[in-house]
Amino acid sequence: MTLEYAPAPESRDVVRIEGSYGLFIGGEFVPPLSGGSLRTVNPATEETLAEVSAAGPDDVARAVAAARAAYEGPWGRMRGGERAKFLFRIARLLQERSRELAVLESLDNGKPIRESRDVDVPLAAAHFFYHAGWADKLEHAGFGPSPRPLGVAAQVIPWNFPLLMAAWKLAPALAAGNTCVLKPAETTPLTALLLAEVCQQADLPPGVVNILTGAGDTGAALVSHPGVDKVAFTGSTDVGKEIQRAVSGSGKRLSLELGGKAANIVFEDAPIDQAVEGIVDGIFFNQGHVCCAGSRLLAQESIVDPLVERLRRRLATLRLGDPLDKNTDIGAINSRVQLDKIRHLADSGDEEGAVRWSPPVTLPERGYWFPPTVFTNVSQSHRIAREEIFGPVLTVLSFRTPAEAVAKANNTPYGLSAGIWTEKGSRILWMAEQLEAGVVWANTYNRFDPASPFGGYQESGFGREGGRHGLAAYLDV
Ligand code: NAI
Ligand code: MG
Repeated sequence: MTLEYAPAPESRDVVRIEGSYGLFIGGEFVPPLSGGSLRTVNPATEETLAEVSAAGPDDVARAVAAARAAYEGPWGRMRGGERAKFLFRIARLLQERSRELAVLESLDNGKPIRESRDVDVPLAAAHFFYHAGWADKLEHAGFGPSPRPLGVAAQVIPWNFPLLMAAWKLAPALAAGNTCVLKPAETTPLTALLLAEVCQQADLPPGVVNILTGAGDTGAALVSHPGVDKVAFTGSTDVGKEIQRAVSGSGKRLSLELGGKAANIVFEDAPIDQAVEGIVDGIFFNQGHVCCAGSRLLAQESIVDPLVERLRRRLATLRLGDPLDKNTDIGAINSRVQLDKIRHLADSGDEEGAVRWSPPVTLPERGYWFPPTVFTNVSQSHRIAREEIFGPVLTVLSFRTPAEAVAKANNTPYGLSAGIWTEKGSRILWMAEQLEAGVVWANTYNRFDPASPFGGYQESGFGREGGRHGLAAYLDV
């Protein structure tokens, strides 16, 4: 029996969305010089939310020049303790405006308000608080007596955690004394533009943060601009490789945070109910639009059937629908393009002989939706076991011994994250040592903290974000 919930929608009146937006350059919103415009939609309804500018090459040049002037001017000369005050101010403003930011994020991205409110926005504020604390202590961070910033950072981010990724990029760069030109993703520009307003409110000196909306060509022009000293990118592995080619030989520093195909490994001695929650959190959080998602469940052979059975029962209780409803667990897929990609890869699972299962769920008529899906009867060679789907799709594989679990988990060109569920501490440590993944969670999944470095190996990219390691990516060390 399922309980009926009354609708509990968060009010959208807390946000004011403009009809159209300029670019944020030198502390002001300005119309684009070249380039055009693009529309951003609410993926849950397909309604157009706003028109934003698509920055062209002249706009990129103007933003890089504004960042350079700020770097050579007030920001570059400012003591760390003074820079810290601005980061603290931004952090507090994010908290003060958290409701507005959460609603705007859910409208533009399609993620449930429960997640934008409880995860994205608080973590974004936490990143500014954490890095504010470093700004006056860089000489004690183990990078020598007076580590220098790099200069102008070009930062390109994806659509899955729009505000949070902006915070991951901006906070360490600013703490270290750099100035930034940030390009949000084309389907989710609105919270970055609200963050621009927050920078104004915090009296951040003009040009320290510049925000250029636009699509891939804007990103390409930005990362290859000769006035840029550092490039930081989060997104697909293909674009990451393109950027690496574009900046090679230029002397620019580069960090890449790319895709993943993580194994979530459950041993027979694991607390099963907790593991089920961890599996759900691992792959159905944020509709599976998570680079470190636990998209491959590796279950020990003796418990595969009962585990999958309990997982199915749990999935039948998830509520899919209006992202602004406080009871919603699964929101909309971010774009038509991403929905097509998920459908295509899921279909390949059927064609290659895997068995597809989804709980009974009614998908809304408008918008982009995909039900939570579990594939069993999967072999390691199937596309759904190898390629990043970036959607709410779990593939189930099994193993017999810890060594086999390690071999299967590492059988991927990626290396971003992994999960281990077992009662045995010694096994956790042994596994963590063997797994080729930047982050290994034990008896939990998708936990984030600004103090903890995050990043990958191999096709998942290089460089770390967060913690002391993340600072190194923005210092001349
Ligand atoms: P994408 O890599 O094309 O987009 C990420 C960002 O890069 C966006 O801001 C985009 O405008 C920009 N961009 C695109 N082409 C560029 C270029 N040549 N130079 C500089 N910037 C460029 O990712 P997309 O197409 O949205 O998603 C495709 C797949 O990538 C997804 O299905 C998923 O598998 C993976 N992905 C992984 C993410 C992660 O967090 N690791 C995030 C987003 C996507
Ligand atoms: Mg949108």
